[in-house]
Amino acid sequence: MLVHDGTYYWFGEHKTEGSAGNRAQVGVHVYSSKDLYRWKDEGIALKVSDDPASDIVRDSIIERPKVLFNRLTGKFVMWFHLELKGKGYRAARNGVAVADRPQGPYRFLGSSRPDMGAWPMNVREEDQIQGPDKHLANDFALGQQSRDMTLFQDDDGKAYLIYSSEENQSLHISQLSDDYLKTIGRYLRLFPGTPLEAPALFKRQGHYYLFASGVTGWKPNAAYSAEANSIWGPWQMLDNPVRGAAEDVSTTFGAQSTYALPLPDMPDRIIFMADRWKPQNAIDGRYVWLPVEWEHDKPVLRWQSAWRLPVQSSIKRER
Ligand code: DGJ
Repeated sequence: MLVHDGTYYWFGEHKTEGSAGNRAQVGVHVYSSKDLYRWKDEGIALKVSDDPASDIVRDSIIERPKVLFNRLTGKFVMWFHLELKGKGYRAARNGVAVADRPQGPYRFLGSSRPDMGAWPMNVREEDQIQGPDKHLANDFALGQQSRDMTLFQDDDGKAYLIYSSEENQSLHISQLSDDYLKTIGRYLRLFPGTPLEAPALFKRQGHYYLFASGVTGWKPNAAYSAEANSIWGPWQMLDNPVRGAAEDVSTTFGAQSTYALPLPDMPDRIIFMADRWKPQNAIDGRYVWLPVEWEHDKPVLRWQSAWRLPVQSSIKRER
């Protein structure tokens, strides 16, 4: 979700019918809204290519697109998880595309792995030796594996790529260049040895919070949460944030985190957004949006089959 000039822009994988719909057949779709209730279809923001030599040729995998506005360049910058056609999930790259308008069209700039030739700021000596399952060291020269990912823009304009790395056994938080087009080799490694996907990072009252999932393919699993006083940590793992029925707790309401949206007029109020994947019929994937609640300053999530935004929270209509 991008919030820009009084409008929400909701980007997502354009899914199609059947299991082929898990691969990119169309591209990244975008909808816009002034109030999060009424949505306008803005069409395809980034189209797949027909050129077999393109990294984003039809049948590649394009997942979890995120867009930020860069104040310095005046461009909208899209990042997404990219897997090359026919290569399963082995490429583990990010694609980057830019546009002059939030809804696109986005121009694909290229794809790569982040943080090539750089160690995380909290690297240990033993992490720098190559070997079986030593993914950080093994991928040092190629760039770190980047699969599930999100972007986070801080109040000071700095932006970060948060990506699932090392065969999805850790998360990395990586600073982007001032133009948001690349990583700069300044990154932190979180929770090595913990299977983690689906990161969603947000800030509330000066503190940083993270939601994530475990790693069970398309099947839902229990959520993780974490907090820190600084983006560079130390990050502390918190409990599973889900409260309520055992099945909700163990499957995150049958869903997997994808984004956490602070409401522009009430930034203390956060919407937790999650995906309910349907790999056999990708187009039937659904969404779960829940208001984040707080218990002793820790974020928690409870099922609500229906809820409304606080009245002041929708963006004021432009006159
Ligand atoms: C779980 C990830 O969170 C999804 O984005 C997707 O990559 C699936 N795995 C693929 O199995």
